[in-house]
Amino acid sequence: MVKLEFYLLVLLISYHYTTSNAATNATAMNYVNASCRNTRYPALCVRCLQRYANSIQGNDQKLAKAAISVSLNNAKSTAAYISKLSESSGIKPSVYQAVNDCLNNMNNCVPSLNQSVQELGKMAQFRGQNFEWHMSNVETWVSSALTNQNTCARGFSDGSMDGPVKDAVIRRMNYLSQLTSNALALINRFALKHKAGTHMP
Ligand SMILES: *[C@@H]1O[C@H](CO)[C@@H](O)[C@H](O)[C@H]1NC(C)=O
Ligand SMILES: *[C@@H]1O[C@H](CO)[C@@H](O)[C@H](O)[C@H]1NC(C)=O
Ligand SMILES: *[C@@H]1O[C@H](CO)[C@@H](O)[C@H](O)[C@H]1NC(C)=O
Repeated sequence: MVKLEFYLLVLLISYHYTTSNAATNATAMNYVNASCRNTRYPALCVRCLQRYANSIQGNDQKLAKAAISVSLNNAKSTAAYISKLSESSGIKPSVYQAVNDCLNNMNNCVPSLNQSVQELGKMAQFRGQNFEWHMSNVETWVSSALTNQNTCARGFSDGSMDGPVKDAVIRRMNYLSQLTSNALALINRFALKHKAGTHMP
């Protein structure tokens, strides 16, 4: 068994952002900035997606896929973190139960996000009602992933659970649910623009 403190330290170290390189195309960057204005956490959205601006190049589908990939990657590392936390010694039984429930939530959340990334990658081949059907699957999966994340955080709402484990889980879960909320907004935006026939091919 590894010490709890170790994982709390890992959490701090893994809490960094990669900064984008300077050669980002201004048009491509403007598109990311403008799209992020429609999300609930625009600054976080820009910070996470600006490094993909050149590969997105104003494409709504690529933007939505990049956003959901960012959420998936964070969900994977959060799931691994919670899993290690659940194996560490020195956690109170009630907190342990909440960590374990959270792990189950994360184990549902990661495949939902993964499926969404796969499905979004194929959207270009779908037309009409077929497109709508696949799109509504993605929206359902991402919404359910968001629900899983919120359920995990709510499991710690009791004041008797206050302490470093709760703080660490809540902090990670808040970050992940903000990423997922942003991704969902960009997915909905892609769906709407496609419906209106204004999305770029
Ligand atoms: C995009 O937004 C970021 C952060 O808000 C800002 O630093 C950058 O100058 C903006 N870029 C463009 C091209 O608007
Ligand atoms: C910048 O992006 C536009 C399209 O968004 C593209 O036409 C142009 O070639 C790009 N410029 C550079 C320097 O990459
Ligand atoms: C994601 O989906 C791909 C393709 O369906 C699968 O091969 C992979 O194992 C999945 N990964 C996760 C973490 O669920």
